[in-house]
Amino acid sequence: MSAVIRLGMSHDAMSDGLLELLRRDDPEVGELLGRERERQETTIELIASENHVSPAVMHTMGSWLTNKYAEGYPGARYYGGCAWHDRIEELARQRAKALFGARFANVQPHSGATANTAMFMALMKPGETFASLVLKDGGHLSHGMSINFSGVYHRPVHYPLHADPAHPQFERIDYDAARRVCQEHRPRVVMCGYSAYPRVIDFARLRAIADEVGALLVADVAHIAGLCTHGGCAHPPPLPHAHVVTTTTHKTLRGPRGGLILTNDEELAKKLDKAVFPGVQGGPLMHVIAAKAVAFGEALRPEFVQYQHRVVRNAKALAAGLTAHGYRITTGGTDNHLMLVDLRPKDPELTGADAERWLEAAGIICNKNGIPSDPRPPKLTSGVRLGSPATTTRGMGEAEMGAIAGMIDRVLTSKGDADETGRVRSAVRALCERFPMPGPTTAHPAS
Ligand SMILES: Cc1ncc(COP(=O)(O)O)c(C=O)c1O
Repeated sequence: MSAVIRLGMSHDAMSDGLLELLRRDDPEVGELLGRERERQETTIELIASENHVSPAVMHTMGSWLTNKYAEGYPGARYYGGCAWHDRIEELARQRAKALFGARFANVQPHSGATANTAMFMALMKPGETFASLVLKDGGHLSHGMSINFSGVYHRPVHYPLHADPAHPQFERIDYDAARRVCQEHRPRVVMCGYSAYPRVIDFARLRAIADEVGALLVADVAHIAGLCTHGGCAHPPPLPHAHVVTTTTHKTLRGPRGGLILTNDEELAKKLDKAVFPGVQGGPLMHVIAAKAVAFGEALRPEFVQYQHRVVRNAKALAAGLTAHGYRITTGGTDNHLMLVDLRPKDPELTGADAERWLEAAGIICNKNGIPSDPRPPKLTSGVRLGSPATTTRGMGEAEMGAIAGMIDRVLTSKGDADETGRVRSAVRALCERFPMPGPTTAHPAS
């Protein structure tokens, strides 16, 4: 890592400039933005779905492109003045295709959930059946939750995890049961890709199941997208097995908040384009699409592969550290960037809600999360979900993961005691000072 920058110092002149501008033009918002910047600089981010983007990605989102309407696609817009927008969107598409080895890419979805909504519109008629993992087992709300678009307009059926603690595949996807569910319900689409699943997904096996029942396989790799780049640098790639891939661009992919859809099938590509626009969206967010192009450009560099390897190594180190302190990691560990921590073996009374609150007071940010077969309701839960993408971006390694596991244990063992929490808060600040947020001189020190 090059220069170590003191917290609060101007390591990103454009961010400093923005705060200066807002101090003049809108001090109220400026104050809040400044506080959030300080929060991010001085806390350890363990939310598995978050990351720290580079200044280039961040500031591209604040560019002139936000002023423009560009409904349509490159070469076929409904507005004039789109020449540079066409070039930018085409660049984003080319880079996305190169990253994932795809023939077609749509970079316009505003988010992962919107990408899934468009996917449903392109592949299914209202009322048709699809198979997925249910939310409480690690799926996503856009995979069939009863009050989500996917569950209101379609008929979800769910395949299970192995539920028997004696089974060697306990808490992992039960592929045989998935096959039985699909044989019984003959879904139009089989969905895989999850929000809280720490193990490798067998895309080839799911494709075989989909083929057997005449379904299309959709892989929503929102979480593991970065790991799946470069032909599967840290997780086997969804293509060519999946007919359609949907993803977010802001998690392990380390881009702006947004969505992306990929396919190798020309007919499906046409349907997906129509479903995104005019199906579910109006004008594309061209400032975000430009930032996607920048992020994809960063991800195409060889350093990004090293980053993904470090993400996985760090997740394994954190899981091992917590196991040593008496916590149970579901499935016995992790293959990717995240883990689910069952708190009960350590303390049967401890809930995910308490853990999240106490850890935040110490400057360690995570989210409560149900564990498979959790007897507690979603607002309490028996676990927390932790991930390594953001800390790895700051340059932290396995030694720091071990230290963080110790800090987590100190806070939770003390039951959020104010003095102990204060001591851990100081240690967190010191660690964050050693590993600053990405800036021009520290751009992705993990790279
Ligand atoms: C598997 C999966 N799909 C879709 C989404 C939705 O993404 P977004 O929040 O951008 O709509 C998420 C977000 O966490 C996710 O984990």
